[in-house]
Amino acid sequence: MTESDVEACADLVGRSEFFRKYDFSAERATVLLRQALADPGSDLLVIRRPSGQSGPPRGFAWFIRRGAFQRSGYLRLIAISPDSRGTGAGKALMTAIESKYLSNRGIFLLVTEGNTAARRFYESLGYGFIGTIPDFVKRGLNECIYFKAG
Ligand SMILES: CC(C)(COP(=O)(O)OP(=O)(O)OC[C@H]1O[C@@H](n2cnc3c(N)ncnc32)[C@H](O)[C@@H]1OP(=O)(O)O)[C@@H](O)C(=O)NCCC(=O)NCCS
Repeated sequence: MTESDVEACADLVGRSEFFRKYDFSAERATVLLRQALADPGSDLLVIRRPSGQSGPPRGFAWFIRRGAFQRSGYLRLIAISPDSRGTGAGKALMTAIESKYLSNRGIFLLVTEGNTAARRFYESLGYGFIGTIPDFVKRGLNECIYFKAG
């Protein structure tokens, strides 16, 4: 991801019904993505349309190298545009992340308990359910911890 992608990626977050539950607006996503771009511990990956290097983003992932317990990788965020979901874009981003980082003590992530689509997505990629933390990110929502070993 480059600075020129930030607005389009933040817009994916802002337009998503799922992220609205967390009051996660495009404005907030813009701030966070800019901070992440400047953070050497973060890696931001973009998948473009159709599949070249120059098209607009149709999805992105934000990975923090030692974001879990200062030991393992942590997938902070992944979002695919609604019209590209179910076409393998999310899997392609996760494959790219795993090829770079999985062997470095595995990857953790959090997913909302009720986000069945995302849970099936991670489970299909081999992530195992570890447990649930109630009210962790937002009161009234439970976060499920998933982990894939390296
Ligand atoms: C969850 C998300 C990232 C998945 O990305 P995607 O590009 O739609 O997923 P893919 O097309 O790469 O799917 C890969 C595999 O995941 C599984 N999967 C994906 N979406 C699924 C769904 N809605 N229900 C069940 N399984 C699903 C399938 O096994 C699929 O394999 P297949 O192609 O052989 O069927 C995407 O739907 C998204 O951005 N959702 C909204 C934001 C969100 O929930 N982010 C995660 C927050 S933790």
